[in-house]
Amino acid sequence: MIHHLRAAGVSLVLDSRGAGVPAVVHWGRDAGALSPADRTALADAVVPAVPPSSVDVPLRLTLLPSLSDGWTGHPGVSLPEVRTAPRQLSTTRDGDVIVVRSAVADAVITTRLELTAQGVLLLSHVVRNDGAEPLLLTAGDVVLPVPDRAREVLDFSGRWAGERRPQRTQPGQGVWLRETRHGRGGHDDPFLMVAGTPGFGFASGEVWSTHVAWSGDTRQWFERSDLGPSVLGAGERVTPGPLAPGSEYATPTIVATWSDAGLDGLSDRLHPWIRSWSTIDRPRPVTLNTWEAVYFEHSLERLEPLVERAAEVGVERFVLDDGWSLGRTDDRRALGDWTVDPIRWPDGLGPLIERVNAAGMEFGLWVEPEMASLDSDLVRRHPEWLLTPSDTVTWRWQHVLDLSLPEVEQHLFERLDALLTEYAIAYLKWDHNRDLLVDASRPQVLGLYRLIDRLRAAHPGVEIESCASGGGRIDLEMLRRVDRVWTSDTNDPLVRQAIQRWTGVLVPPEYLGAHVGDARAHTTGRVAGLGLRLVTALFGHAGIESDLTRVAPEDLEAVHRWVSVHKDLRTLLHSGRVVRLDGADDSVLVHGVVAPDLGTAVFSYVVLDATDTALPAPLRLAGLDPERRYRVAVLDIGAPFSVLQDAAPPWIAGGVTLPGAVLMGLGLPMPLLLPGNAVVLRVDAVGLTHSVPAEAGAGD
Ligand code: DGJ
Repeated sequence: MIHHLRAAGVSLVLDSRGAGVPAVVHWGRDAGALSPADRTALADAVVPAVPPSSVDVPLRLTLLPSLSDGWTGHPGVSLPEVRTAPRQLSTTRDGDVIVVRSAVADAVITTRLELTAQGVLLLSHVVRNDGAEPLLLTAGDVVLPVPDRAREVLDFSGRWAGERRPQRTQPGQGVWLRETRHGRGGHDDPFLMVAGTPGFGFASGEVWSTHVAWSGDTRQWFERSDLGPSVLGAGERVTPGPLAPGSEYATPTIVATWSDAGLDGLSDRLHPWIRSWSTIDRPRPVTLNTWEAVYFEHSLERLEPLVERAAEVGVERFVLDDGWSLGRTDDRRALGDWTVDPIRWPDGLGPLIERVNAAGMEFGLWVEPEMASLDSDLVRRHPEWLLTPSDTVTWRWQHVLDLSLPEVEQHLFERLDALLTEYAIAYLKWDHNRDLLVDASRPQVLGLYRLIDRLRAAHPGVEIESCASGGGRIDLEMLRRVDRVWTSDTNDPLVRQAIQRWTGVLVPPEYLGAHVGDARAHTTGRVAGLGLRLVTALFGHAGIESDLTRVAPEDLEAVHRWVSVHKDLRTLLHSGRVVRLDGADDSVLVHGVVAPDLGTAVFSYVVLDATDTALPAPLRLAGLDPERRYRVAVLDIGAPFSVLQDAAPPWIAGGVTLPGAVLMGLGLPMPLLLPGNAVVLRVDAVGLTHSVPAEAGAGD
């Protein structure tokens, strides 16, 4: 039987004829409606020649490529002590899901393939030991073919306050492998691995990508060899170990996406798919987070004025960050005791929450449940609850609790449940500020998932943000459990522009916490104008990370205006199609969000640094309807931008109305912004091009 999954312009063709494990005939562009005869002809037609000095049968990439089949590249599932080749037990299809059961000696491997309505391919394996002896499992990965024209690879690296830095390579023969060993994705998480036609960009090129939906250690690779197809491989970085009789290992879900419209084409599939399972059905509240405003300086007196200022500028959610819990006076102590500090909060958090609620805002609270300090009542009582011995190296002076211990999970559940029951907490900022520094992180990850799942079931109305020293744990299995991620600890807009741009290829903007910080960024010491800070925070889940009681009145007014602009735009910003422009000049970043009906759009034009030329290229918009006319005008978001020019392009003063085709094809000259400035444009459809009578003339 040859199976053909088709959705949204994507095809997956699987040849499950014979006793061998099904071969992947094709993953990528829609192959069209194929009759059974077409499918057979296609599957036969892709069978390759047999070269000299090779196995004596045509080598085809199966769902479980292995040495016993002649595949000498990286394997998928690896049971090195087993000598027999994998064989197919059954292949069944139910709608968009194919389930393949295969056997390798005593192991039964169930492979699930699903093509979502958006054309996102989801793959996973479950390996079960049906024998009487333990089986050594050294790898549990998904391997997919990509054609030879996919010669360029993009993946990500990064560091604290500098997450998701893109890196590109054109690997030769061999393996380009990215592995993580943090026990969380980490700041250098490879995140997405994309193989594409050389030079692929946001809007162009054919691309194939993988993402490992897993919050622990992962690996992703691209391999080119003489074996035939290049491959993308992805999975958890498994610590080799015995699979006991009767037990099973379930791989994370691998999210595989194809597009012939560049990286934005990947987002066009991933964002709608992620949005299809989002549980948030109301506007995302504008947030104020207290971290950079007060750090550990906690008291009702200190925070009351901040509550008032926040409410005045239109904030809807007030989040009390680190510093509220017992003895937590700095970042060197007292993690683990999740009770309210009686010295700084003698009457508990009630009075603060009452003021927050009375001012019309909901209340959020920071926690870091997976961690503990040696200097805490918890560790004094239960030193045996630590994941590693107490004399092992600390990280931010803290240790990790062993979440695989049921008593630890139960304790944390009870503490968090008690807080959520006692107080009107609408939101938890769930932090995780260190690597685990253990080789086998899986039990910890599964413990985390169990804990969050239990809490969500007990408190379904509470939203959760995943934070890990900023963006150190952003993956789609976490996103299944949380409503927001803290994209990075840096609020320096010059750095954050790039972090949001790249994180946003996978994650829709409404999940990306984006806050307006102080003029002098706490993480870089660099000063940025208010305009750029506001523009940068406008497009995500917007918030403020600043002591508004110390902000000048005119800046407060600007922030107030910005909050109301964000509220006006957020339905569009949080549901629209994200488009990013490929520019020749690295100093200029253009990014936009276009409403699903193409009737409205908002674009930001950001100049990060001195431009390459005195007159940068006109701004060409993207994603509009070429057949419609649009009014384009500068949007006042609260703070002006600075320019160095003797005259602005004339259209800037009053806006301009032009066909979408012209705005996208020719573009508009932009004001000459000084580095560190940005313009926001509002774009509104005003009619169809053919509804306007053409002027008489030779050109019309
Ligand atoms: C790291 C986070 O990323 C910050 O936003 C803040 O919550 C601190 N931890 C608190 O310790």
